[in-house]
Amino acid sequence: MNNNPIGLFDSGMGGLSVWKEIRAALPSESLIFFGDGVRCPYGSRAESEVLKFTVEAVERLIAEGCKLIVIACNTATAVAIDYLREHYADIPFVGLEPAVKPAALTTKSGVVAVLATERSLSGRLFVQTSAKYADKVQIIKSVGHDFVEIVEQGEECSARAEAAVRAVIEPIIEAGADRIVLGCTHYPFLRTTIEGVIGDREVEIIDSGSAVSRRVAQLLDENNLRAAEDHTPDYRFITLGDENYLKQLQRRAYGCCSKEKA
Ligand code: DGL
Repeated sequence: MNNNPIGLFDSGMGGLSVWKEIRAALPSESLIFFGDGVRCPYGSRAESEVLKFTVEAVERLIAEGCKLIVIACNTATAVAIDYLREHYADIPFVGLEPAVKPAALTTKSGVVAVLATERSLSGRLFVQTSAKYADKVQIIKSVGHDFVEIVEQGEECSARAEAAVRAVIEPIIEAGADRIVLGCTHYPFLRTTIEGVIGDREVEIIDSGSAVSRRVAQLLDENNLRAAEDHTPDYRFITLGDENYLKQLQRRAYGCCSKEKA
């Protein structure tokens, strides 16, 4: 059982940012990445749809023998994590949540910005977490308009990406934010572009990737599910998209901009 794969699920390619962290932190673990790719973006869809799609993906990952499942999508986590933990009690789940805590604890200006999809920002998880810090820091909520589409189309090093990022980041910095939380797994693919817009201003970008891989390691240990140290890992990719989408997933798992690496 221990050499069985860890499953990861996202609406598309964004969850590969989490896949990269887990692969680097846990090099003996086999991974199966399920990127829907057809119904992405999920961020503006109805909760009932996101729940249905997430449950379908989880069923598939369970059928593939996954020993632990990472919902590598903030939006799907916001909608489905409680349901999954209740209905699939035998499987340990790790969900993605905007890293509000480290931002709130380290901000010097007292203003932090959280970038995420509409669905994540209106979800119970985020509302509860941000309420904990609301009396100490100002939290600006901001949707990364067009960010997910840009990443899905491999355009993150383009002028379109620069303009979309500038439109979101400039007002946040002008409002005094010195911490920007990337609360969507697609957004780390835009990190270089975001850094370019920030320039030499003292603003730190925070994402959840390393915290997630630490949580996965902890759950593997708690459940005695670690792969053998000498296990040669296998990396598989599943999608509802076509052959070309599958190739993009594989290529981007090992690179950055699909257009650059193509
Ligand atoms: N990558 C996803 C997230 O972390 C969802 C993006 C989308 O499908 O809207 O929220």
